[in-house]
Amino acid sequence: MKINLKINNINRDIDVEPGEVLYDVLRRCGFTSIKKACGTSSCGVCTVLLDGMPVPSCSYLAVKADGHNITTIEGIKEEADRIGKFMVEEGAVQCGFCSPGFLLTVIAMEREIENPDSQGIKNYLAGNLCRCSGYEGQLRAVKKYMGVSE
Ligand code: FES
Ligand code: FES
Repeated sequence: MKINLKINNINRDIDVEPGEVLYDVLRRCGFTSIKKACGTSSCGVCTVLLDGMPVPSCSYLAVKADGHNITTIEGIKEEADRIGKFMVEEGAVQCGFCSPGFLLTVIAMEREIENPDSQGIKNYLAGNLCRCSGYEGQLRAVKKYMGVSE
């Protein structure tokens, strides 16, 4: 069956299988920034933005995304670079496997919540697991990026 996705502001008609998940479709279309770890909606590594909101692409049926806007890291390179600088400065990037999903979630948070505090940031990012860091570096980086002191 054919679905229409607006991926990073470009409309595409794509043939998908009824049970195919968004992760597989996007990777097949060349969006290889998207990674997969758990495959069960538990780790956030495969996060993409659907109409601006983070969703786990490993468990999201592609047919449900028909007619919607999808954002991947390829579509927000400048914002990702800006946040990435803070991540590097705070030693928050190690293997980098979780970074695409993490950065997309930070961008969604920035657009959705005005002036979050530390706890608000932790709550929003709770679904994005990292197997390398102790999360403190990530938190420092996001707080600096967003200008949050508490
Ligand atoms: S790979 Fe999708 S949530 Fe873990
Ligand atoms: S930096 Fe390795 S999983 Fe997060």
